[in-house]
Amino acid sequence: MDLQTTNSLIHMTDREFEEIFSFVYKKYGIDLRKKRHLIEGRLSYTLKARGMNTFSEYMKVLFDSNSSEEMQAFLNKITTNHSYFGRENEHFDFLMHEALPQLTKTRKQDLRIWSAGCSAGQEAYNIAMVMDQFFGPQKNRWDTTVLATDISSKVLSQAKQGIYPEEHIKNMPAQWKKEYFQLLPGGTYQVVEKIRKEVVYRIFNLMDTFQYKKPFDIIFCRNVMIYFDAETTRRLIEKFYEATAEGGYLFIGHSESLAKGSPSEYTYLRPSVYQKITRGGRR
Ligand SMILES: C[S@@+](CC[C@H](N)C(=O)[O-])C[C@H]1O[C@@H](n2cnc3c(N)ncnc32)[C@H](O)[C@@H]1O
Repeated sequence: MDLQTTNSLIHMTDREFEEIFSFVYKKYGIDLRKKRHLIEGRLSYTLKARGMNTFSEYMKVLFDSNSSEEMQAFLNKITTNHSYFGRENEHFDFLMHEALPQLTKTRKQDLRIWSAGCSAGQEAYNIAMVMDQFFGPQKNRWDTTVLATDISSKVLSQAKQGIYPEEHIKNMPAQWKKEYFQLLPGGTYQVVEKIRKEVVYRIFNLMDTFQYKKPFDIIFCRNVMIYFDAETTRRLIEKFYEATAEGGYLFIGHSESLAKGSPSEYTYLRPSVYQKITRGGRR
């Protein structure tokens, strides 16, 4: 296919598409095979702003420069980061009324929590709010810091600020809006400091080896595996399983399924909620 520049989009040749697709798939697990137009749409402006006319020129800079800044800018463009507070609220209800009462019977002072593929922090702060509600005045006796990770530096810096448009918090109960958000002059809302300080953000590629001191009691990895194929999902679920403490929980998105990457050793509890139950004892 010849290069064409129409409607202000720069089109990829088949070879260019194959190269960019394979790179992203191998390194980040994201399956862009059916997303050719999305890549062209999201990157054409970047190419033009750099005075480039072809994806080959862009890839040369991206792959040869070995610049992490260049790679970050690329990842910020190709990832889909849609998220909001109160997304799939059943998970937060389950956490509050089932998982936490269960976990706190055996854990005494800390809970290890991971929001994997956290986007701009809505999910991680939502978890921290549930912890605050659940523990109430006892909260200071517990360490329930949420580790929140993503590959996009752009969403992570938004997450650290914790500022959102009203649209992102419309699913939250009125009382929570009052308690956990501060209205800023421009009409946006900032998560209050006592919740912001409960979350630590790190850049992390889920395709990399997991390194952790203690296994996790609660893992949220929702609406991330939709971008992965069955084999990548299967390998990721295996890693999550290894990283889950006995009795710990895995929450995935409602439109996702472990069956896609089956068989998994997790015990199915209800749609999109799993638990690690082995014959051995507690962690
Ligand atoms: C649609 S958002 C989901 C956000 C949140 N979990 C939710 O359910 O609302 C998917 C996130 O996964 C991240 N992501 C995709 N591939 C990843 C990878 N290999 N490692 C870490 N994060 C990844 C993207 O950057 C994006 O922010």
